[in-house]
Amino acid sequence: MGEAFDAVEVIITKRDGGVLSDPQIDWVVDAYTRGVVADEQMAALAMAILLNGMSREEIVRWTAAMIASGERMDFSALSRPTADKHSTGGVGDKITLPLAPLVAACGVAVPQLSGRGLGHTGGTLDKLEAVPGWRASLSNEEMMRQLEDVGAVICAAGSGLAPADKKLYALRDVTGTVEAIPLIASSIMSKKIAEGTGSLVLDVKVGTGAFMKDEARARELAETMVALGTDAGVRTVALLTDMSTPLGRTAGNALEVRESVEVLAGGGPEDVVELTLALAREMLAGAGRDDVDPADKLADGSAMDAWRAMISAQGGDPSAELPTARHTQVVTAPASGVVTRLDAMAVGLAAWRLGAGRASQGEPVQAGAGVEIHARPGESVTEGQPLLTLHTDDEPRFARALASLEGGFDITADDGGPAYRPAPLVIDRVTAR
Ligand code: URA
Repeated sequence: MGEAFDAVEVIITKRDGGVLSDPQIDWVVDAYTRGVVADEQMAALAMAILLNGMSREEIVRWTAAMIASGERMDFSALSRPTADKHSTGGVGDKITLPLAPLVAACGVAVPQLSGRGLGHTGGTLDKLEAVPGWRASLSNEEMMRQLEDVGAVICAAGSGLAPADKKLYALRDVTGTVEAIPLIASSIMSKKIAEGTGSLVLDVKVGTGAFMKDEARARELAETMVALGTDAGVRTVALLTDMSTPLGRTAGNALEVRESVEVLAGGGPEDVVELTLALAREMLAGAGRDDVDPADKLADGSAMDAWRAMISAQGGDPSAELPTARHTQVVTAPASGVVTRLDAMAVGLAAWRLGAGRASQGEPVQAGAGVEIHARPGESVTEGQPLLTLHTDDEPRFARALASLEGGFDITADDGGPAYRPAPLVIDRVTAR
């Protein structure tokens, strides 16, 4: 059977700044998934999209075509409403770990399909795999059962969900076309809409440790995704949040699990608690349960109970000791004063180089590797006091991790002046227009 279009014509339309028609979009996404449009042709089209952009209508259609490339899940048979969260990725961003059980403890089911680390940003599945016995892969039936019984699932997306995105994402990764807002928005939202959540909260990161370094682009991405979700019948809001400094006091897999458990126990770093509660309130509002205060569920231990049930249901032992790295090295403060900057990218790169992330796809990560932060921006140190502790199983990794931290922090003499002004963690809230 002949093909409806010619890939070269579609590429030329976008190359010359034209608008792709609905049938052209449907065809090119489907034909690429079938292997009829070659990788080099899709790469050329992705670059034309990156350079010339897409209209709102094109993005909506492109997203629908990616959803149509695979299966759609349906949670409408569950006895409680569903809400999910997606973060565009950051350093020390362990929020999903306390958030999913917390929201479940408030009576809303959380079907959280998560990913692995990419570059300097950590991945939720890599973090949870630090828990002895825990497994990331569940069948759709297991996922449904756990959502009904426990209320929260964090697992890997099955291969049936938006297969066009899997193929296109891998291609974009090696062709310099990741950063196109229409492609990022359609990639994220096709998976979330196909997953079938009733409501969605997007945590769009802004700053040195984020995909989007400046607020204007982050806002454009947030607005595009909120419109896509809303049009598809998913109640969607986005928070723009700061990622110029790491979240909390840890970056690395087991280290972040430990910190998340502290939050679930009613403690933990202030910023992690603040963002967890802000996102939980948005998820509960989206699911029609804003009558429940999530802070109460952290305080009364029910979020911790949900965490333990969620980990056990996926084969993990919530009481087991978490793995620790074989070697540690302390970075001390070179001067006395107030820490006025601790760069998220520098810490993320250090954790990655220590073995918390992977250098190529499929490589194992070290459960114990990462960076522990003893003094965050706004805190005082004296010269020689520990600032960071680096953790790794391979001693030779320390040198490159230390190199990535060079110039990564500032300590300003505490002479009584206003040395440090904290930036707000939640910068703005983006809703459907
Ligand atoms: N995450 C995704 O799933 N897709 C992108 O394009 C970027 C981040």
